[in-house]
Amino acid sequence: MDIQFDFTGKKVVIFGGTTGINFGIAEAFAARGAAVVVVSRKRANVDAAIEKLDAYGVPVGGFVADVRDMRSVEEVFESIRAEWGAIDVLISGAAGNFLAEASALSSNGFKVVVDIDLNGTFHVMRAGLDYLAPGASVINITAPQASIPVRYQAHVCAAKAGVDQLTRVLALEWGAKGIRVNAIAPGPIAGTEGMARLTPHDDGAAIESVPLGRLGTKDDVAGLAMFLSSSAARYISGAIIPCDGGGSGESVLQIQEAGRFLAAAAAAQQ
Ligand code: HXC
Ligand code: NAP
Repeated sequence: MDIQFDFTGKKVVIFGGTTGINFGIAEAFAARGAAVVVVSRKRANVDAAIEKLDAYGVPVGGFVADVRDMRSVEEVFESIRAEWGAIDVLISGAAGNFLAEASALSSNGFKVVVDIDLNGTFHVMRAGLDYLAPGASVINITAPQASIPVRYQAHVCAAKAGVDQLTRVLALEWGAKGIRVNAIAPGPIAGTEGMARLTPHDDGAAIESVPLGRLGTKDDVAGLAMFLSSSAARYISGAIIPCDGGGSGESVLQIQEAGRFLAAAAAAQQ
């Protein structure tokens, strides 16, 4: 990367930060001097993330919490204040996803994704506000499904659309406090749980669908998160920024293909 970010002395907290794209963001900040705290449900994921982040020689912390549970999110912030002080960068990226036709989705199946992605993001924002440092950068991780309708993704499309609007409203309300609130919408990012779940039978067409000719990397998303948290982005707030190689629309077609494949497979089994 030809831009030299330096986050020495900054405190970065990432909900859903123990694996995948969000962990990639955690590593990028740690590699540039930030103290990094990651949070997710599974103790094993938290412990593994802490072990890897320790290698960067920066202060590292981890907490087990479920973003669906407001009290557990509040407890994380209370612990962080006691140990770490005010937060400079707060990222909300916990999410759940699976392919399911809306007509086959139970009430709880729809609810679980809305609870994690949308209500969870609200919990992180609402509970986190009082713990932010002046001039803090807040970033929500959204998805192209927020604006592009995708078959078998009714739950995710609805939840992430809510995340986008929440981001815009909080940017309006928190701007006067000097807090910037933005969102990143990753495209297809290689080697992630999201891609494994949504394009399990990818034949390479996903790559061809991206104008820049490759899947994204976790570093691509991390670069945008660092930019948004740097002084170079000091006048950017309320923005939903794709990080997708220019190909959100086309790459989402691949998700549709995966859905068709799974539906055909299920039909063949009956
Ligand atoms: C239909 C399903 C289902 C499936 C679960 N459900 N999987 N319905 N098809 N494949 C239903 C269950 O039957 C249940 O409803 C309800 O959802 C809750 O399921 P639980 O297993 O009890 O939920 P829980 O243990 O809380 O787990 C949440 C989860 C799980 C979302 C279901 O998959 C998870 O923890 N995911 C986290 C990791 C993840 O998804 N990462 C990918 C993010 S990628 P009933 O009615 O039976 O009670 C992303 C965008 C990617 O977000 C974009 C790529 C381009
Ligand atoms: P991932 O590795 O599964 O990351 C999800 C993280 O959230 C995990 O650390 C998980 O850890 C945590 N989590 C899940 N449910 C939680 C809950 N209820 N409370 C607290 N933490 C929870 O998936 P990913 O593919 O990297 O996706 C990361 C983000 O990018 C998501 O917001 C996703 O929507 C977005 N995105 C991904 C892609 C892609 O190509 N992969 C594309 C567009 C958008 P635990 O299991 O330990 O809780």
